[in-house]
Amino acid sequence: MKMRTESCDFLIVGSGIAGLMSALYLAPYGRVLLLTKKKLSDCSTNRAQGGIACVIDEQDSFDQHVIDTLNAGAGLCNESVVRKIVSEGPERLNELINLGVRFNHRHDGRPGFDLGREGGHSQRRVLHAGDITGQKIESVLVKRAMRHPAITMMENAMLIDLITTRWLRRPGDNQCVGAYVLNEKSGEIFAVRSPVTVMATGGCGKVYLYTCNPDIATGDGIALAWRAGAKITNMEFIQFHPTCLYHPKAKRFLISEAVRGEGAELVDTNGRAFMKKYDKRGSLAPRDIVARAIDSEMKRTGAPYCCLDIRHKSSEFLKARFPNIYNTCLEFGIDMANDLIPIVPSAHYMGGGIKTSIDGVTSLPGLYAVGETACNGLHGANRLASNSLLEALVCAYETSGRVIADACVLPKTLRIPAWHYGKAVASDEAVMVAHNWMEVRTCMWDYVGIVRTNKRLARAQNRVRNLRREIREYYFDYLVTTDTLELRNIALVAELIIRCALRRKESRGLHYTLDYPSLLPQARNTILPGRKL
Ligand code: SIN
Repeated sequence: MKMRTESCDFLIVGSGIAGLMSALYLAPYGRVLLLTKKKLSDCSTNRAQGGIACVIDEQDSFDQHVIDTLNAGAGLCNESVVRKIVSEGPERLNELINLGVRFNHRHDGRPGFDLGREGGHSQRRVLHAGDITGQKIESVLVKRAMRHPAITMMENAMLIDLITTRWLRRPGDNQCVGAYVLNEKSGEIFAVRSPVTVMATGGCGKVYLYTCNPDIATGDGIALAWRAGAKITNMEFIQFHPTCLYHPKAKRFLISEAVRGEGAELVDTNGRAFMKKYDKRGSLAPRDIVARAIDSEMKRTGAPYCCLDIRHKSSEFLKARFPNIYNTCLEFGIDMANDLIPIVPSAHYMGGGIKTSIDGVTSLPGLYAVGETACNGLHGANRLASNSLLEALVCAYETSGRVIADACVLPKTLRIPAWHYGKAVASDEAVMVAHNWMEVRTCMWDYVGIVRTNKRLARAQNRVRNLRREIREYYFDYLVTTDTLELRNIALVAELIIRCALRRKESRGLHYTLDYPSLLPQARNTILPGRKL
């Protein structure tokens, strides 16, 4: 069957801040094709509540932000990466403001931005747009990208696999030269031919049963990069956000850490504060500590949740500072000014990812990665709150500079073969996809969660390997759909998380295991080579 092939200078995958900023930075230099598997706004950026951590206050300093980031990262951050991202922040932030993003200003009449505070930060340094910062950023960037004549954006376009020269059996070093893509609406499979692919696909929260991530967070970038032969690193570091709203009807609604920044205390169901037992910083300790403390209190008391208490603030203050959170809680019958807010931890951020330098270079020529899907050493073993939008902003800029300097070209005689459908037929067993989807996520939640053991990890590894075997058969027998592709990706990413977790024989940052409760003297990254092709 004849297959359509699109050509571009820069293929960008993902429509959050990392993908959109990369598109805007690269557009002056060539044709950009940006693909996203659902709608443009279906991305984690759009749901970010807290804001962007950036040093702009006179009382603050780059050194303090660097120290806070290193402290959260538990010995695994790359200090020069941290310093560069922190110190370049204000310049990139100004570009965002010049594009039209508006952050809240102080309301006491003094000039300057209203800065929020979050766990692990020694200063108020989080710029925010109400409590829907991500949504405000996303809408400005989407508008800008839509208007740019060199940028084409395509929704409902899900990558099946990257195409590499090794896969095409060409001699020489392996190079990424494009991708096979499924158009979810029409069912058409087409190819994209591009000397540069920038992966900006976000995280993998959906690998876990409970997550505050959007449905698209299925670790696609990690799975695609690994299958193409790129190195993956530090996948054991999954950040569980301590405070996701606990309510049978609330699907993954986050109660921002900024609420604790304004004085909310973590309490048990009887209203007793407990965080000081675990850390002298109390409710504003870094997230790994807070999430473990909540987990331990839930296990100790048998209660299915803990609570946040911000009843000492007036409803006027709460409505003005957290309009979205206040109104959403109210829809579920919780008035933050009068009631405790029931919360549980849930999977929130992927600390590891495709191994990159600060400028997005991966171990596979032609493939770059930016944002949550990349791991460049900023976060180490635990991400400091609100550092991720900053990272995406700075690294999109740095990566674009590197892409232009690298001037990748495609091999002259490159021809992309048509997608091979084989004997695949339309599936009459979608139930298997739904079932395996739940199995992977339940297994990861139960055995590879906040507190781990060797035994639980080994059990999870067995189960996930079996599931992957079944999924592989299903994948080859039936025509691909977005659901089967996502299932194939979450199962692979689950296995990569488990493999990394089994290699770490210590408890560091977000990886905590009862079998090795202390730190090893030397901090090392876990690096998995990509699949052998
Ligand atoms: C939050 O608002 O609590 C999330 C911020 C972040 O994860 O950086």
